[in-house]
Amino acid sequence: MENIEKVHLVVEEKFYPPKEMLEECIVKDYESMYKKSIENPDEFWSEIASELYWFKKWDKILEWNFPYGKWFINGKTNITYNCLDRHVKNGKRNKVAYIYVDEEGNEKKYTYGELLEIVNKLANGLKSLGVSKGDRVSIYMPNTVEAIASMLACARIGAIHSVVFAGFSEGALKLRIDDAKAKVVITATYTKRRGKKIPLLPVVKDAVKGLDFVKNIVVWDRDSDLDEGEFDSFLVDFKKLIDNSSSECQPEIMDSEDPLFILYTSGTTGKPKGVLHTTGGYMVNTYLTTKTVFNIKEDTIYWCTADIGWITGHSYIVYGPLANATTSVIMEGVPVYPHPGIWWEYVQKYRVNVFYTAPTAIRMLMRFGEEIPARYDLSSLKILGSVGEPINPEAWLWYYKNIGREKAVVVDTWWQTETGAHMITTLPCYPAKPGKAGKPLFGVEPAIVDKEGKPLPPNTVGHLVIKRPWPSMLRTCWGEPERYEKYWKEIPGNVYSAGDLASIDEDGYIMILGRSDDVLSVAGHRIGNAEVESAIVEHPAVAEAAVIGKPNEIKGESIKAFVILKAGFIPSDKLIEEIKETVREVLGAIAVPDEIEFVDKLPKTRSGKIMRRVLRAKELGQELGDISTLED
Ligand code: WTA
Repeated sequence: MENIEKVHLVVEEKFYPPKEMLEECIVKDYESMYKKSIENPDEFWSEIASELYWFKKWDKILEWNFPYGKWFINGKTNITYNCLDRHVKNGKRNKVAYIYVDEEGNEKKYTYGELLEIVNKLANGLKSLGVSKGDRVSIYMPNTVEAIASMLACARIGAIHSVVFAGFSEGALKLRIDDAKAKVVITATYTKRRGKKIPLLPVVKDAVKGLDFVKNIVVWDRDSDLDEGEFDSFLVDFKKLIDNSSSECQPEIMDSEDPLFILYTSGTTGKPKGVLHTTGGYMVNTYLTTKTVFNIKEDTIYWCTADIGWITGHSYIVYGPLANATTSVIMEGVPVYPHPGIWWEYVQKYRVNVFYTAPTAIRMLMRFGEEIPARYDLSSLKILGSVGEPINPEAWLWYYKNIGREKAVVVDTWWQTETGAHMITTLPCYPAKPGKAGKPLFGVEPAIVDKEGKPLPPNTVGHLVIKRPWPSMLRTCWGEPERYEKYWKEIPGNVYSAGDLASIDEDGYIMILGRSDDVLSVAGHRIGNAEVESAIVEHPAVAEAAVIGKPNEIKGESIKAFVILKAGFIPSDKLIEEIKETVREVLGAIAVPDEIEFVDKLPKTRSGKIMRRVLRAKELGQELGDISTLED
């Protein structure tokens, strides 16, 4: 393995939290709290979980039956009770849960009391459609409180939600609805982006064609565009469903290990994996990490810019913040419309204290120049979060200086759909190093090892593994236990293999360098190389395709595809556009290749596997490395 200084710019300087931050930190002594979580996990997790409400407490913290873990054994709870009822009963009925804003500055506030009422009504509405505990409900919604209420309504009655990012195409949506065998799909007439209405309902209507197990589409008719006559026993009106239902709905008594949601994410094969999370452990760890990493206080105003369609939205727009009774901003729209200062305008307007976004957005906004954020009063900011991909020191420093004004701390949170919650991050109470995520969170025991599982010395790049189970770990891949087991069997030593390359320095700071497997990170979105390849070959002219990621200044990685055409087809710009369109239809705009090159041959192993590594090295002008298995 290579020495990391040779490959990556490293800033060794430490950035200390300001005195005021240290004074108000919830976690002041990271080292001793971490030590307790590792040496005495039962006591540690028992104390944290006791801060939440349980209908019946657990008998035991962990049952570890490699590679299957169960947490808070026999505990009974409901996550919505902890996210809503608990606060309403504690005098916070009128506290604002969400401030929804759109690109035009339209705003709508929802208190905890109001949110509970909507969730209960919708939960009863879903029940009236025959949805019950264990049933799957797909959610294809804009980034709005209505989407959040839909997720919570499912959790209220024990239905398993499967949110599909509303930027995914009909094909990608169909695959996910089909795999989960969803009984109901909840959607909206449209989502707003760059001042335009992007229709969602037609996509859902097409996606459910031929899927007989789907009993209803529930549609939030945002502007009452639909005619009365369009609704029937299949297409149900979201607003009516709420209006006609009672606001009393007893939360379903959920076992700690009852499923909460499925979220599909990209793996190394063409088919996405349905990552399954359960109730108790996920609830406890999203609660704890939100509280400690973002230092959530009674009056904190928090804004996570993710979309609810991704895990960051699930854990850090919905469950974690609500479990902490936080007031969150949620925005529907993009960061550059109607102007590239829109985020900073809203930070100023709502006096946001904690801002959580992705490096790709920071790099994009950097391009517009520091004069843009300089126009706004950003003095309310105390914590700046980063997530989704490695943050290069240049972007880190820009964020710290121009957004945090050297007064806010930067927390770089490393985690995954599979981990459910933050795993490695800087905490506000100890110094940060730009470009390094930081130290492990509570109960997380990481290591950097070689392929055989042997630990590597400091500052050496290796595979990032986690050596013991943690409460919010994925429990399985929906319908595909063998794919779940692979995480724990990839590298010897009974460890969870994250699929990321990393190194650790003498101070114990972990630096994440990127994926070690065939998964791309494009603008913070996780996309499998194989997924894009199988979309490309759906074009009738294509015989074979190979996809690689190329370093990209803004998006982290851009997608380049090498395509072999079938006999009789001639390369042309028109074909390039057609192939791009095919990918857009099959997967969605986020997966469309930036570059397509027609080739006659692809490098393959003797067993016929495409060597993407060789293609990438060639494209980037690097040494080809070991090519002894190359066929010719
Ligand atoms: C990458 C997103 C570096 C990593 C929460 C991981 C990061 C994948 C960071 C998971 C970070 C996430 N620094 N890389 N702070 N956070 N990643 O499932 O490659 O969409 O494996 O979850 O994103 O992507 P996912």
